This record gives sequence, structure tokens and C-alpha cells, in this order.
Amino acid sequence: MSRCKMIALSSAGILASVVTSPAAGEVRYDPASRVFRLTGGDTEYDIAIDEQGYLRPAYWGKALDAATPITLPLLPAPPVIGAMDPPSSVTAQEYAGQGGGIVTEPGIKVAFADGNRDLVLKYRSHRIAGETLTIELADISRPFTVTLRYTVDPATGIVGRSATARNDGKAPVRIDQIAAATLTLPYRPGYRLSYLAGRQLAEFGFAQQDVGPALAVLESRRGGTSNHMSPWFAIDQKGVSDEEHGPVWFGTLGWSGSWRISVGTDLIGRVRIAGGYNPYDFSWQLRPGETLETPIFYVGYSDDGMGGASRLQHRFQIAGILPGNGRPKVRPVLYNSWEATEFAIDEAGQIALAEKAARIGVERFVMDDGWFGKRDSDRAGLGDWTPSRTKFPNGLGPLIDRVHKLGMEFGLWVEPEMVNPDSDLYRAHPDWVINFTGRPRTESRNQLTLNLARADVRDHVLKVLDELLTTNDIQYLKWDYNRSFSEPGWPEQPVADQQRLYVDYTRNLYHILAELKKRHPRVEIESCSSGGGRVDLGILRYTNQVWTSDNTDAFDRLTIQDGFTHAFTPAIMMAWTTDVPNWATGRTVDLSYRFLSAMQGGLGVGNNLNKWGAADFDVATRMIADYKTIRETVQTGALYRLARPGDGGPTVDTLYVADDKRQAILFHMLQNYQARDDVPAIRLRGLDPDRRYTVRLAGGGKLPDGIPASALGSRWMSQGVTIPLRGDFKGAALIFE
Ligand code: DGJ
Repeated sequence: MSRCKMIALSSAGILASVVTSPAAGEVRYDPASRVFRLTGGDTEYDIAIDEQGYLRPAYWGKALDAATPITLPLLPAPPVIGAMDPPSSVTAQEYAGQGGGIVTEPGIKVAFADGNRDLVLKYRSHRIAGETLTIELADISRPFTVTLRYTVDPATGIVGRSATARNDGKAPVRIDQIAAATLTLPYRPGYRLSYLAGRQLAEFGFAQQDVGPALAVLESRRGGTSNHMSPWFAIDQKGVSDEEHGPVWFGTLGWSGSWRISVGTDLIGRVRIAGGYNPYDFSWQLRPGETLETPIFYVGYSDDGMGGASRLQHRFQIAGILPGNGRPKVRPVLYNSWEATEFAIDEAGQIALAEKAARIGVERFVMDDGWFGKRDSDRAGLGDWTPSRTKFPNGLGPLIDRVHKLGMEFGLWVEPEMVNPDSDLYRAHPDWVINFTGRPRTESRNQLTLNLARADVRDHVLKVLDELLTTNDIQYLKWDYNRSFSEPGWPEQPVADQQRLYVDYTRNLYHILAELKKRHPRVEIESCSSGGGRVDLGILRYTNQVWTSDNTDAFDRLTIQDGFTHAFTPAIMMAWTTDVPNWATGRTVDLSYRFLSAMQGGLGVGNNLNKWGAADFDVATRMIADYKTIRETVQTGALYRLARPGDGGPTVDTLYVADDKRQAILFHMLQNYQARDDVPAIRLRGLDPDRRYTVRLAGGGKLPDGIPASALGSRWMSQGVTIPLRGDFKGAALIFE
């Protein structure tokens, strides 16, 4: 039984000596010290109520040791505080209202109807139910409360944090800004921020910068998650942390609308982090008795470097976020004809491709864009979700039946939130799109965004999709979303409620997805947005996989996948082999390299199979057969980034180890070889040192000289393995069993 021995609080700061060893997955409150302790995995997150009733961040890091009294220099007052810096700002709060003179980022900022904009939140009550803690904060004089919610995951220690504002007054209160959580790290030198930034065709670029007083703002202002930035951050310590060692704090928002995460140091070098709805263009009128709830900010800590942080997040997402009640199904191998045919599709052409796909072991055949309405290009048809009469004169039935007879599932592309002005839907309902009355409607890819925040639009979209899934035997939807908001108006609402658009849109999107899952529980959904523009822990509660990027170049993908796996599990990361030269990069690499790149997540084939020769079919058949023997490990095992793109070496080496350690796969991808390159042995990690592993090459073939056919795990981890590749863009995958 753990115990808090002593904790002393002062207005200048909190100094705590704690002797304790909490069990995993617990929330406890010590009334003597007024400290809440949340523990899970190897992590601990503590909060304290100070003597004035403010809620203070107390500790976030490795679980505190049982035997050693630990002093927590939580909020030390600097030796001198000038008059310019109010103590309320210097002493960090766990979740502050904008008020009492704070000049740092608040959790919430409001305006009362009488013009008062001062909100000072203090502890009122709390409740502990299993692994969930709720703490109610109340303003010092007004009937306005914020309830903070914390749920700790026992296995990983990841804490899901959110906030709910409630107006108990008699007049409306305008909320201008509301974060799911604010977080504080004590002063330490060398804090470094990692984040993922890019654009369409180059999503998930891993970037780093020092954390300093200049606020770093990661965000999307465009209504959706975005291809530009991912709602994820990690902070480590330069010179202390690396890929496999040292502290890393991380967090990711479960929200598919406009979001913001800000990171910076305050005036005494403590890191302050805030994450939640993007305050940009945000305004919410909270009427008497109403509440506004934020999305969840999932935050965690690893003592094992960036790799350890990734593995915790992967585990958490598989067990706690993805559909499947903690056991998501492995990703079937899919075929998708988009790159092969684009809009030039019809029944005979799709059947011809399906027959070839079935031959190589594909399990799910997906028909992409172009099957409906007048959709012969991206200029028309979106919104009219009935099969094209010319391309599918007998509806989708004959194609679906044929695909099923070939032993595959059938999947279909949709983009339900969008409409082309050249469509029957838009002609009937021009008011259904997001717009400002009398202002231009900016088109992007010749399309406009339906205002899903409207109940009638939401119900229409749900009805159309429900009918599609009811009248056709469909196992999977690829749900696309190919533009950002513009002119974000909602003219039918009272002016004070028009900016609810950003939140109500996303909530209704989740409603449609949840309802479809309920009515059609066996249908799986892929989240796609011009590639990886909608990947976040909000949408992942309803979708089984994501389209990682429209960039299918096998070499570029290694960089994209490297960034992706910092925040998200490979269990959802779809990758296809496609034709060469690659349309986006002009690069030509051989088919086995393309397979080895795509096999590092959920495998798909996107080639024009009509152009393949016997040798291509042979490579594909062998690779797909082997992929099926390793996919569970790749998708749900422990990932180790042994050599990363951009590390300076000629290779990218990625290792996946099964949870029971009975299998491991090492992907060794050589970019280009120069005679001067030293080829270091690749030392594996995470194997059972006492178990003997045999090794074989994915796709078959003789093991290179010098690699023993079997050896103990300890040998693979200490001496490593040397794979003598030569040339440009060559790859090999070793399967250890
Ligand atoms: C964008 C997606 O990312 C592509 O894979 C493809 O589905 C096109 N849309 C179709 O319009």
C-alpha cells in the first residue's frame, strides 16, 4: 500500500516529499496533503490543491520510487519577482481561467454578459471512479464551473484529459477560448519540441526545435485535422534523450476539427503546453444551464526515448482507441485502382482488375472515385451517390458479386461531406454548403463543403450512406475529404452561434460515423483526406485505417512512415505499391523494393495489373504470401527505428517485434551505396535473449552469406546482422522466428 508521507504547500510554490510506490492504473487522493496521484505503466501524473484553493500541477514523469523520498521542486518562486509579473502568472495553475492578472496561456477565456472578463477558478470538489478523476473548479464569485476529467490508462500511463465548462448563471457567457488541458514541466535545460509538419504528398515530416520563450504554435485553422500539421507533440531533453533513452513527454489531441497545441517556456523557464479547440475564429455562446465539452488531449511520458514514447502510443491506440474493443482486426491486403485508372472505370474494367488481384492474394478489392453520378472528372458529380448508368448499367451488384465470388471483400470510395456545384444535390440545395450570404464561395478541387453542422445536412448524409450500405453488399468504405473550409459561415444560425460551425461540424461527422458503425457493424472505414489529412485520435475511434499519403513513392514513403509512427500505430497506416515512374516523384524502383516499403504498415496494391508481366505477378504473389505471415507483428508489435531517414546513413532500418517475442521482422532499405560506405551490423532489439531464432528472407530466396540460419536472440542483439546490399534503392526484409 503506497502512502504520501509529507507534502508542504506554500503560495510561492509546492515542495513535496513523497514516499510511495503506487500500483499501476490507480487514481488516489491524499486528503492530508491534498494531492491527487494518477499512476499507470511506469508513469505518474500528480496534481495538488494549494492552501488558497488553486489547483497546481505537481508532477509528471516516471513513477515515483517507493523507497526514496522525492522532493518535487514544482513551482519554485524565482528569487525576485518584479511588479510586471503577477504571482498568479508565475505560479502555474493546472487549468487557469483568464483572470486574476495571468499573462500566460489560460485554459479558458470567457466574457460574461455584463462585460466582466475576469475568471478565477479554484477547487470545489472532486470524484474518483475507477481510473477516472473529475475535479470541479468554480469561479471565485460567479456561477461558472469547469470540470476537469482525467482517465489514466493502466497499461501505458497515458492520461486522457478534457474539460467541460458549465454556465449556472442567468445570462449567456461567451467562451472565446477553451483548452482540453494545460500542462507544465519544471525548469530543466535543453527542452526540445518534436512535431509533425508537411503538406499533401509530404505529410508527417518529423521536425524539431528548441523550446523557448517564443511560443511554438502547432495548429489547424481549416476545419479539419490537416495534411499540414498533426495534432501531436513530444518534448525531450537535448543531450539526455535519444531514440531509446531518456525522458520524453508527449501528447495528442483526439479531434478532427480545427485544433491548436502551443508550447513555450514561461519567464522562469518552465514549459507550458496548452491543447484543445483552436481559438482562431472560435466563439461559443453558453446559455444558462448549458455545457461545452472539449475533445480529449491524451498525454503521456516515456523514460525510454522517442522509441519508447512511440511504442506506448501504439499500444494505447490499439488497445484503447481503435474499433475492435482492444483487439482490432489485422488489415486485409487490399487492391485499389485509383492510380491505375483514375476516373476511367466501368464494370468490365474493374472485373478484369479484380480477377488479377485475386490471383496474387488480395483480400479486399476497392473501387475508388468515379463510379457515381456524372463523375468523369473532379469537376462534377460529388453529392450524387447513385452508380453511373453508363459505367454500371446494372448498378454495382454484378461487380460486387464477382468480387465476392473471387473470394475478396468489396470496398467503395465516397466523399460524403462534399458537393460539386455541377451536381443534382447542389442544384437542389445550394444553401447546404458552408458559406457567407452574398459572398463568393471559394471552390477547391471544384468542390464546396456541405455544412454538416446543420441537422438536415447531417441526416441527409447519414441516409445516403445508410442506403448505399443497405442496398449493396459492401464491406469497406474509403471515406475521403479533399478540401479545407473557406468562408466559414452558417447563415441560418443566430449570429452569436454561427461560429459553433467548427465544433458542430466535427461532432456531426462523428455522429454519422458512429451511427453507420452501429447499423452496419461489419463495415470497416478508412479515413482519407487527400492522403493523410485526417489522422487523429478522434476519427480513429470510428475508422479502422487511414490513407497515409497520396505520395506512393516507395522511397518517399519511408520518410512519411517514419514521421507517422512517431505519433500513430502502423496498425492503421496503409501503403500501396504503385506503378513506376512514380507519378509524384518520377522515381523508378523495382517492385520488390516497393513491396518492402509498403509491407511496413497495412499493405495494398495500386498498380495497373493489366500492364504486369509474369515476373511481376510472381514477385507480388510471394511478397503478399509472406506479408500475411508477418502482418500481425508489423501492425501490432513493438516498433524500433534502428536507422532513420535523415540520420545521415545510407539505410533505413526498421524492426517490428511481436508482443510474445516469437517473431521479429527487420526491414533494411538501402537508398544508395557508395564504395566508401562502411556497412555496420544492425543490432536488433527487444528479442528474447535466450530463445533461438531462425531467419528467412521475405519473398523467398537464399540468405546472404554470413547470416547464420539460426542463432540465439542474444546473438542477434549483440553482434547484429550484416546485410550486404549494393546499388540504389534495394531492400531486404529478414523474418526471425
Ligand atoms: C484523394 C485520395 O487521397 C486518393 O487516394 C483518391 O481517392 C482521390 N482522392 C480520388 O478522388
